[in-house]
Amino acid sequence: MLLPRWSILLLISILATTNAAFIGVNIGTGLTNMPSPSDIVTLLKSRQITHVRLYDANSHMLKAFANTSIEVMVGVTNEEILKIGRYPSAAASWVNKNVAAYVPSTNITAIAVGSEVLTITPHVAPILASALNNIHKALVASNLNFKVKVSSPMSMDIMPKPFPPSTSTFSPSWNTTVYQLLQFLKNTGSFFMLNAYPYYGYTTANKIFPLEYALFKQLSPVKQIVDPNTLLHYNSMFDAMVDAAYYSMEALNFSKIPVVVTETGWPSSGGAGEADANLANAETFNSNLIKRVLNNSGPPSRPDIPINTYIYELYNEDKLSGPVSERNWGILFPNGTSVYPLGLTDGSESAGSTLFCVAKADAEEDELEGGLNWACGQGGANCALIQPGQACFFPNDIKSHASFAYNDYYQKKKSTGGTCDFSGTAITTTRDPSYKTCAYTGSPNANATGGNFPTTALGPVSPLVGNANALIISIYHLPFLAPLALTLLLLLLLQPDRLL
Ligand SMILES: *[C@@H]1O[C@H](CO)[C@@H](O)[C@H](O)[C@H]1NC(C)=O
Ligand SMILES: *[C@@H]1O[C@H](CO)[C@@H](O)[C@H](O)[C@H]1NC(C)=O
Ligand SMILES: *[C@@H]1O[C@H](CO)[C@@H](O)[C@H](O)[C@H]1NC(C)=O
Ligand SMILES: *[C@@H]1O[C@H](CO)[C@@H](O)[C@H](O)[C@H]1NC(C)=O
Ligand SMILES: *[C@@H]1O[C@H](CO)[C@@H](O)[C@H](O)[C@H]1NC(C)=O
Ligand SMILES: *[C@@H]1O[C@H](CO)[C@@H](O)[C@H](O)[C@H]1NC(C)=O
Ligand SMILES: *[C@@H]1O[C@H](CO)[C@@H](O)[C@H](O)[C@H]1NC(C)=O
Repeated sequence: MLLPRWSILLLISILATTNAAFIGVNIGTGLTNMPSPSDIVTLLKSRQITHVRLYDANSHMLKAFANTSIEVMVGVTNEEILKIGRYPSAAASWVNKNVAAYVPSTNITAIAVGSEVLTITPHVAPILASALNNIHKALVASNLNFKVKVSSPMSMDIMPKPFPPSTSTFSPSWNTTVYQLLQFLKNTGSFFMLNAYPYYGYTTANKIFPLEYALFKQLSPVKQIVDPNTLLHYNSMFDAMVDAAYYSMEALNFSKIPVVVTETGWPSSGGAGEADANLANAETFNSNLIKRVLNNSGPPSRPDIPINTYIYELYNEDKLSGPVSERNWGILFPNGTSVYPLGLTDGSESAGSTLFCVAKADAEEDELEGGLNWACGQGGANCALIQPGQACFFPNDIKSHASFAYNDYYQKKKSTGGTCDFSGTAITTTRDPSYKTCAYTGSPNANATGGNFPTTALGPVSPLVGNANALIISIYHLPFLAPLALTLLLLLLLQPDRLL
């Protein structure tokens, strides 16, 4: 009975999804050697990062983002909330000074009022709704309310039992504040900002959940995670956390407020007792997170609402106190080199289409040469088209040739674990790099036959059809997996208090 309905729902959601999800980054500033705003902007551009969140409204940063088209979320600090909540005039001057002064050159599209206010500065909670309202009224006065959304990032701690998602509710002690927040979000067409950390969900749950589940890895049939009430399968803790927020809102009768994940990530290094904070897990989490978000689907209960997500965070912040892991959430060192390879690509250019792999704009020539040689040799890429006289020979430079070879390798090998890395000189993009007569492998413009060359181009592939088939197949497998999934399900039901 369930099967046909699910498959139809899922197919419709894929076909109907027109809004592409985005991946953004949080920019914390707790660094001894904070790079200059213009260096940061150059770096973000070279990595094709399109959305950032600042924890404050630093004027140097906001100026640097002018005329870049990078979308910026600014922050009211927890310390500023009391005054803004009490005095509409304080809210008005905050908006004038930190938003109106930069728009439209700087594309400010959201204001995060505070950060995890209910759990970090609970004394401010009673005035949070008033602060949100005052900021909103100030935006209305500046005619910016349609462009700039206002919300307040919440931590998972306000949902004491997030699993199973279908029974999650907000903690009764925060009910009033959360209710006012949701009413505000609904009335102003804003979104629920959630800081969702599978790292903490996993490390504080006494190994009840498999690590694969926290890292978006494939779960073995005996480890499937199923919500016993809805029978929805959860492929990742991240999805379950987002759904917990949706169900918690629903319990208060708010069903139409989209969730945006304002923070998630994984630390790449930790101290004693933080074995799960390591390079391999961080790289796995963040690269799988990006794939997960850019596939555009929502969590199981809301398959048609993409999960826009900001990674915590851009830089390792050496000035933060606390455990070693606190200082190692960054995807970059302060000098701008990657802590681990990560392609951060916005899917907005062509939603749901092929990911291409190209040479990074700032990669060194000798490194590209190494990568090119490897791709055309050991890597098995077909490099015929970049030979003299062929369609992709011009422009005759290393970067262009490396891009072609990297991409051919990536399209052929990605299904079997090939990555778009090449010692950090490559990056994925949804923009089809094909030009004139040079069609990149995987591009719909690629000739299936390849003319005179024994080409390896994949020919015209419709990702939509491919994915839809894959989905149908996986749905038909569900009934066979279901009994096995019950093992874990029972375990979860027997220990409801120990979850997360
Ligand atoms: C952004 O572009 C506008 C229009 O071209 C220009 O007037 C303005 O000075 C630019 N702002 C900055 C900070 O470069
Ligand atoms: C700013 O962001 C909004 C929302 O994505 C977008 O519609 C708009 O075109 C952007 N504006 C500029 C100037 O890039
Ligand atoms: C939470 O508060 C709202 C509004 O004050 C109320 O309608 C609702 O019943 C409360 N829910 C719970 C679970 O206490
Ligand atoms: C939600 O709506 C239902 C049906 O209208 C109502 O019975 C219930 O009390 C409402 N719950 C809350 C928390 O407002
Ligand atoms: C996107 O990711 C979700 C969650 O892992 C998965 O259920 C779904 O099948 C994926 N969709 C596509 C089109 O790959
Ligand atoms: C950047 O910083 C990291 C960590 O301190 C260091 O390992 C790396 O060598 C530095 N890279 C450059 C190019 O300076
Ligand atoms: C595809 O093949 C046709 C005929 O063989 C040729 O004219 C055309 O240039 C090729 N297009 C590309 C993009 O290689």
